[in-house]
Amino acid sequence: MRVERATSGGLIVTCRYCGDRHALLAQAACPACGVVDESDVQYFAHVAQGRRASAEGIHLRPPTLADMQRAREWRNHPDVRPGLRTPFMLTSEQQEWWYREVVCDRRAPSRWWAVYDGEEHVGVTGLEGIQWENRLAEISLLIDPARAGQGYGRQAVRLVLEEAFERMGLLTVTGECYESNPVGIAFWRRVVEEYGGEVTTLPRRKWWSGRLWDAMWFTLTAEAWGERRKGAA
Ligand SMILES: CC(C)(COP(=O)(O)OP(=O)(O)OC[C@H]1O[C@@H](n2cnc3c(N)ncnc32)[C@H](O)[C@@H]1OP(=O)(O)O)[C@@H](O)C(=O)NCCC(=O)NCCS
Repeated sequence: MRVERATSGGLIVTCRYCGDRHALLAQAACPACGVVDESDVQYFAHVAQGRRASAEGIHLRPPTLADMQRAREWRNHPDVRPGLRTPFMLTSEQQEWWYREVVCDRRAPSRWWAVYDGEEHVGVTGLEGIQWENRLAEISLLIDPARAGQGYGRQAVRLVLEEAFERMGLLTVTGECYESNPVGIAFWRRVVEEYGGEVTTLPRRKWWSGRLWDAMWFTLTAEAWGERRKGAA
């Protein structure tokens, strides 16, 4: 499935089997060829049920080892791996090493959070490659695949940008999403639109499934964030 935003604002999907372009429907079957794309079923099911995360209960917590071990299982999920920079599966030992060496290192150039909805762990997010001199960092986000399409990703981005721009003093947050991850592309386009960001294409950024893929590189700024905050007040 390829996802793009129509000028009218809705989402247009292109069936990866027959090429038909149609509006995003609350079902996974292509109306032209009838093929059901299993990777989209969960998202469409959530949209159809109208299950949405409410902003109130969602918050960031310092991540525990148990949170990061749960995130390892999400990360190893077959639907998630095409979007990862390092798409190999991780063992619990590797994840524990990363947690102790990177997440627990207060001087590491990264900050990580667990995303919670009330008492339920729904995702992890981070700012990586922090350059304090240049006041910039790269955003990373992973939502539990069983909760995809419920609005957790958007709420998590809002909370991370609040940390970056209002507490850490960063001025620029960048991100990279590979075109091998069409759901990620649709998601970040929506985020960029919401926060007045800029997008550019980087060629040949990923080798996956027997071919090279370009990447969408995006930039979100404290200035545009502030303008949006003023507009909302
Ligand atoms: C990409 C990801 C963060 C999205 O999180 P999410 O909680 O599922 O997304 P949300 O429910 O907040 O969706 C926000 C918007 O993204 C777009 N979107 C999300 N999933 C989509 C899908 N399957 N098809 C089309 N658009 C989609 C929609 O515009 C949606 O808004 P809407 O539902 O109001 O139209 C999540 O799927 C994920 O963690 N994927 C695996 C890891 C990954 O790819 N991380 C990003 C690496 S660059």
